[in-house]
Amino acid sequence: MSKKIKIATVGELAPGQYKSIELGDERIALFNIAGKFYALKDVCTHDGGILTGGTLQGYIIECPRHGAQFDVRTGAVVRMPAYVGVTTYPVSVEGNDIFVTVE
Ligand code: FES
Repeated sequence: MSKKIKIATVGELAPGQYKSIELGDERIALFNIAGKFYALKDVCTHDGGILTGGTLQGYIIECPRHGAQFDVRTGAVVRMPAYVGVTTYPVSVEGNDIFVTVE
């Protein structure tokens, strides 16, 4: 059953910024790209590295370990060495609060 969880407030992230949030056993990377929020599982599918800490250019996050790139809108691989996309989470904003929906 899915759960909607508040993970941040709008003022915490300026456009072009991201942060990692621990939710139980999960780490979720929350991005603000041009005022819209996106959430990914904060784990690279190549070798389990943490994505946050990598470079963000536009919608593309680069894993700091071996340089795989993912589109934060879809989780899709943009550049190897990863072959499998990263899990994404639906994000909603209500007033000043940001929520993600997780399984
Ligand atoms: S762990 Fe991310 S590219 Fe290798």
